Amino acid sequence: MEEINASIDFDKRLAGQDLAGSKAHAKMLASQGIISQDDADAILKGLEQIETEIAQGHFSFKRELEDIHLNIEARLAELIGPAAGRLHTARSRNDQVATDFRLWVREACARADAGLHAVQKALVAQAAKHADTILPGFTHMQVAQPVTFGHHCLAYVEMFARDRGRFGDAMKRMNESPLGAAALAGTSFPIDRAKTAKELGFDAPMRNSLDAVSARDFALEYLSAASIAATHLSRLAEEIVLWASPSFGFVKLSDAFTTGSSIMPQKRNPDAAELVRAKTGRILGAFVGLSTVMKGLALTYAKDMQEDKEAVFSAADALDLSLAAMAGMVGDLEPNKDAMRRAAEAGYPTATDLADWLVRMLKKPFREAHHIAGAIVKRAEDAGVALEKLPLADMQKIEPGITKEALGVLSLEASVHSRTSFGGTAPSRVREQVAFWQEKLK
Ligand code: ARG
Repeated sequence: MEEINASIDFDKRLAGQDLAGSKAHAKMLASQGIISQDDADAILKGLEQIETEIAQGHFSFKRELEDIHLNIEARLAELIGPAAGRLHTARSRNDQVATDFRLWVREACARADAGLHAVQKALVAQAAKHADTILPGFTHMQVAQPVTFGHHCLAYVEMFARDRGRFGDAMKRMNESPLGAAALAGTSFPIDRAKTAKELGFDAPMRNSLDAVSARDFALEYLSAASIAATHLSRLAEEIVLWASPSFGFVKLSDAFTTGSSIMPQKRNPDAAELVRAKTGRILGAFVGLSTVMKGLALTYAKDMQEDKEAVFSAADALDLSLAAMAGMVGDLEPNKDAMRRAAEAGYPTATDLADWLVRMLKKPFREAHHIAGAIVKRAEDAGVALEKLPLADMQKIEPGITKEALGVLSLEASVHSRTSFGGTAPSRVREQVAFWQEKLK
């Protein structure tokens, strides 16, 4: 029974929150005249002592005492005697654990926000340096059109901004206090729930005691925001793995974020990026795990809900670590402009620019222009040359209206500089966005 029932091995991570909740509760009990001020003082003093013991690593967590709540209460009784027993007046472990866990998840949201902010700053710094560094933009993993590395970095800045929005929304919604819901139905003692809510930094007490002890959607929201953020981190990690591979060679990571191989001396493996990519599995797994735990639970509390913590702890640890590693890697990576350029040149990425020219200057319908440009690309391919190196006469065999002005739009620079629509990849637009984000992330 102890083996399956005890949660102390993992819920000791709630010690800080449990102590804060107990202090707020004890003060409120005294100010409402439910316990004496002397008892409250003794309780607060004892809780302080426990806090010190835990901080210094002297506290002995006991499995036979099941969980963090009973461990702390038992130690309090050792320290201050019978007054300890008054702390649990008008409270239950059900509202206690719901309160502790909310406080913990609220902090995890704030940490995620800070970690995402750091990754954004690192990306914006790269974007500022590389507003006109050209690399191929891909669709279907095929070279599509040239874009700038700065633009590419800022795409992730946008994703991480939405992730921060999700954590912020979740944090706001979860910021209501379950404390005082007691076991499930409220209490007959004249407690002041608004007071404890305020003391713990909540906006208000939760309005329904049954909901207060049985809701775990705040943890699910954290995990869902974490899963989406992890998906974004994983996409960036995947790109770093690709870019750092010798076949691409787009970026170089220093020894700080790579490892050597034990038998192949030439290797520099992007382990940190691979692990960030992989942690997504654990984080999404936690979401799937906890939603499966919760989905069939009749109101109100059931011990099933004890399974909420490990999922969240493990996901939060993985997310915090991934964010730190990603901020480090983004700052560390060094783009190789030549390799990016060679890859962009290899794929006829300015074929669209030629088609656009035919539309603009020869008033061709886009579909026809697309067809003509395709035939010209084919000819360049057969000749083994870049589009802008194909003799004008060869192009004119396919479309007699083409003039040498058309050649001007075919360079990679001309292509990216022409894409000045709002949100486009033109270096001038990228610089505008860099300025926007630098201001916003201050
Ligand atoms: N360790 C428990 C949990 O994490 C605390 C709440 C226990 N409540 C109870 N009625 N058994 O869920």
